[in-house]
Amino acid sequence: MKSNRNLSRGEGRRLGNVALIAFMLGSLLLLSFIRARFSPIGKTREAIKAEEQQAMRKESLKMETLDTADEASASAGEEEEETQPKPTDSSGSSGGAVGSDGGVSSTALNPGDAATYHHLRLSKPVCYESSRRSDTCEAAGNVRVQGRVQTIHISPLEQAWKVKPYCRKHDAFALSHVKEWALRPHHGDAPHCTINSSATAFVLSTGGFTGNLFHDYTDVLIPAFITAHRYAGEVQFLVSSFKSWWTNKYLQIFQQLSKYEVVDIDNDEEVRCYPSVVVGPTFHKELGVDASKTPSGSSMEDFRSLLRDAFGLERATATPSGDRWDIRRRPRLLIISRRNSRRFMNERAMVDMAMSLGFDVRVGDPDISTDVSKFARLVNSADVMVGVHGAGLTNMVFLPVGAVLIQVVPYGGLEWLARGTFKEPSADMQVHYLEYIIQMDETTLSEQYPKDDPVLKDPYSIHKQGWNALKTVYLDKQNVKPHLGRLKNTFMEALKLLPHGQSN
Ligand SMILES: *[C@@H]1O[C@H](CO)[C@@H](O)[C@H](O)[C@H]1NC(C)=O
Repeated sequence: MKSNRNLSRGEGRRLGNVALIAFMLGSLLLLSFIRARFSPIGKTREAIKAEEQQAMRKESLKMETLDTADEASASAGEEEEETQPKPTDSSGSSGGAVGSDGGVSSTALNPGDAATYHHLRLSKPVCYESSRRSDTCEAAGNVRVQGRVQTIHISPLEQAWKVKPYCRKHDAFALSHVKEWALRPHHGDAPHCTINSSATAFVLSTGGFTGNLFHDYTDVLIPAFITAHRYAGEVQFLVSSFKSWWTNKYLQIFQQLSKYEVVDIDNDEEVRCYPSVVVGPTFHKELGVDASKTPSGSSMEDFRSLLRDAFGLERATATPSGDRWDIRRRPRLLIISRRNSRRFMNERAMVDMAMSLGFDVRVGDPDISTDVSKFARLVNSADVMVGVHGAGLTNMVFLPVGAVLIQVVPYGGLEWLARGTFKEPSADMQVHYLEYIIQMDETTLSEQYPKDDPVLKDPYSIHKQGWNALKTVYLDKQNVKPHLGRLKNTFMEALKLLPHGQSN
């Protein structure tokens, strides 16, 4: 519509393209994972896997499967099983499945039995559970990486270990797409070095759920930062299940962390030798860094600062331009648009309403764009970002300090999902958080179902049917039409949180 939208449209579209494709893959995986995790019917897992693999082959899926941060829900579920309304009856069987998936760690780490493991832990083990989500191995000495066979020959090393270098421990589905790496002792009998390096080798995987924006950050990029930042560039990323489009998408981030080229390690014919190695990034929390646990005290603030350097983002804080005639004196509101599900039905009216409040309004359409830098700059230019719950909100990592995130929570008792994914991480990003919860008269579900249908009357009864039911009804089939009057209150609340106008 208005001229001020055109620019952002273009920027948004580009993001959308790439991101969507990525999302589709990620979402499919996620979805399957969630199904696998929450579905009481274990046998669907195989079917899902097959589906997913097919999807990966195609890469050109429908956006309907593009379900943003649903997997985030899964992680939220993982962290908050006790407090949140269960998305399923979480029967003994699914609990059992999770439990046995949990065995991933004990099989991934290969210390024999629990006693050995315990002993090794006490004596600074090479591989250890670095968090509930991750196993990490660290070794120094004579390290020879033979990427083609996912083997690292290490001397000295007391025993062999195995590990999957991806932060979804206990998630058998994600890990089924992650290659296992072996750490083996050698006594001069390992293959000869063809390349010597003085850096630390860092093995990580971009298998799993990567391709979904939320997972890209929470499973890989932030954990990689947690692990690698301490080396001040003297670290080489050896990426297993390497996908060039994915690595290229985030290359600027890797370049901030490392002075060395990123290696497609599974297809590497070299024997790369290093003085030390880390296998598997370390997870702290959803979209976050626990500064008390990083060796150098690195924090989420440092990660966000790194992102600004990587993508050339100008605004560290959401302060207005100093020039009083600069258009940037007006606070900018960015609407994250979705196309298929959880769409804003009255987006244009929302734009007009926001403009009437004095906002400079942009609409970002994260469905076609490939250019992370451009979308990151658009987000960074915003003071308020509003969007319906979904992976697109992961873009909050680019918001300046003091900006406001408004998460629109679809109808259906999904507050727990909103909390674990985007609400909780906002604090460490120093981003204000507001929520707009869709009511019955604002959802298209009220046109699809009779008033007394359990979908409208008793959402938790749908939650009890399992993740699939919940997702299908409340995430896939729902569009929203916020009341402009009520939404206006939320926008005004956001305005009050901004420094704009307070100085003048
Ligand atoms: C790597 O270093 C070792 C030990 O210093 C040396 O014997 C070997 O020739 C070096 N290999 C290469 C390819 O530089």
